[in-house]
Amino acid sequence: MYEQYWKPMGDKTTIVIPGWQSMSYFSDVTNLCWFMEPELAKQIVRIHKVVGNAVTEGRHIVVGTGSSQLLLAALYALSPQDSSNPISVVSAAPYYSSYPLMTDCVKSGIHKWAGDAKIFDKDEPYIELVTSPNNPDGFVRHPMVNRTGGILVHDLAYYWPQYTPISTPADNDLSLFTVSKSTGHAGLRIGWALVKDVEVAKRMIKFIELNTIGVSKDSQLRAAKVLEVVSDSCEQAGGSEYTESFFHFSHTVMTERWRLLREAVKRSGLFSLPNFSPAHCNFFDNNLGTQPGKNNKIFVYMVYFFLKVVQS
Ligand SMILES: Cc1ncc(COP(=O)(O)O)c(C=O)c1O
Repeated sequence: MYEQYWKPMGDKTTIVIPGWQSMSYFSDVTNLCWFMEPELAKQIVRIHKVVGNAVTEGRHIVVGTGSSQLLLAALYALSPQDSSNPISVVSAAPYYSSYPLMTDCVKSGIHKWAGDAKIFDKDEPYIELVTSPNNPDGFVRHPMVNRTGGILVHDLAYYWPQYTPISTPADNDLSLFTVSKSTGHAGLRIGWALVKDVEVAKRMIKFIELNTIGVSKDSQLRAAKVLEVVSDSCEQAGGSEYTESFFHFSHTVMTERWRLLREAVKRSGLFSLPNFSPAHCNFFDNNLGTQPGKNNKIFVYMVYFFLKVVQS
């Protein structure tokens, strides 16, 4: 979706990896997350500081093959291993359609999908997946189970300025991020978790070790370079190297897509779209509305539908 930004960047985002490099399983034996490239860790901390969307102090960073692998790692790490019953995993409907499938795909015996968080009333431990802004509807979300003591996993894939106002740095026990949505590089398959509890981080790392013995170093190095350029573009926007920041560009792309989508929906007379109240975005220092990132497929179908109607 953001190719038009990345194409003119040319050599700024090019990296060369000779055949003899990145051969070991290990990236940094001094780090708890021994398979994480130090440069990626550095750029993750930097981008959160530049954008102001997450606290990284006092957090362990765990890199994963997309945030999808990290979600599975988090479920593994947070589920009691010695309980006779699997722990319930819930999320408020409408939720990301992969959550139930991912939770139950290997019928692990330690966790099981239990549906809509809004109606979960069992008096037992649970894990709640809080997606904010939410996929598919784009609304800002908070925990929904009407009880304290739940274990929370915050999926913040879309908590970036092009999709939603950045109101405060996320300060959660366990937050998930991904380059798939932040920079548009879904094919790199790189995500990261910010984890408060060292024991939880260790178990997530163990899961990734058992699952894939680490995460592609080539991908990590590319992701580090892309994140570096995003941070540079924010810090040097308007200068000779970067006419605008990546987030100004991507915000404009999203605004235009939502304008076209709203127009097509209005003309169809068949569908409706939610309205989002504006909120102050600390990154843009402006009052802005949410523009959910999960409109890509709807966008393509609606514009196609609209063109058909116009042509007929
Ligand atoms: C809310 C949410 N979380 C996670 C993912 C998966 O991200 P990744 O590509 O990092 O595995 C998606 C992908 O659509 C998503 O919408």
